[in-house]
Amino acid sequence: MINKIGIVGGGNIGGVLVAEIAGRRLARNVALVDIKPPDFAKGKCLDIAEGTPTIGRDIACQGSKNFSILKGSDFVINTAGVPRTVRPDGTFPSREELLSTNLKITDAVAAGIKKYCPCAFIISVANPLDAIVYRLFKKLKHPAQKIMGMAGVLDSGRYKYFVAEAAGISVENIEAVVLGGHGDTMVPIRSACRVYGLPVDQFVSKSKLAEIETRTRKAGGEVVSLLGSGSAFVSPAWSALEMVEAIAFDKKKIIPIAAHLNGEYGVKGIFLGVPAVLGKKGVEQIIKIKLTAEEKKALRHSISAVKKTVAEVNKMR
Ligand code: LAC
Repeated sequence: MINKIGIVGGGNIGGVLVAEIAGRRLARNVALVDIKPPDFAKGKCLDIAEGTPTIGRDIACQGSKNFSILKGSDFVINTAGVPRTVRPDGTFPSREELLSTNLKITDAVAAGIKKYCPCAFIISVANPLDAIVYRLFKKLKHPAQKIMGMAGVLDSGRYKYFVAEAAGISVENIEAVVLGGHGDTMVPIRSACRVYGLPVDQFVSKSKLAEIETRTRKAGGEVVSLLGSGSAFVSPAWSALEMVEAIAFDKKKIIPIAAHLNGEYGVKGIFLGVPAVLGKKGVEQIIKIKLTAEEKKALRHSISAVKKTVAEVNKMR
């Protein structure tokens, strides 16, 4: 059992995280920090704490406006930032358009982590994902093994779900991976998609797969437009906890994450969605996938998009 998980940002994802951690008995202590007045994080945690007798969980849930609540956290999950939300005219921003607002918040988060739990594993969820985790990494000077972004699990989960639905086969039988940035350029890898270990096109037609892959790339936006306010939150929270569990239980599980790359996939010094082995040391190995020429081209396009956002980050002091 983990001693303490700290969560930054008490919005929808943060709330599901606290409830799930208590429900799963994943950590003895959960701490939530959010600056929202009057004392939103405290209220959110009190609500969940008051439910723990009913579900029979002795898990301490504490919320605060102050980062000091994170002291001693073994893991920090960063969800702090504004989400995408539908505008009055029905359109919604890209994740990249959140950058300037969320970057300022990220700098405050980095300062809080540095002060109170500088050795924690960090899983960042805030958008634009690949750029925000990069900023945290730069500000914290954290070991690359201990800091990662949550996106690939979610994007691959979406791909798997759509394939399962189209094939009429259990989600448990689907294997799928999405590489690249957590934006509309992400790359669902059809050549690695399997149903019960068999090539996916044995179950789903090529034209339907093309439709599914387009839907996967835009799946976050689809939820934004359906909700009418805010973005997806349950599946992102479950995805982050999948990563926490793999590390805490030293599972050596291959999970697609946003990892800091050092030459893998031809990328150096930035974070990108790739499969990685997660175990007690954090990111223990990056897994290379053999791609088709078309997939390689799409990945290069996605890498350029991430680099462009990272260049923006580097300009903002
Ligand atoms: C999404 C947000 C969390 O993809 O980025 O739904």
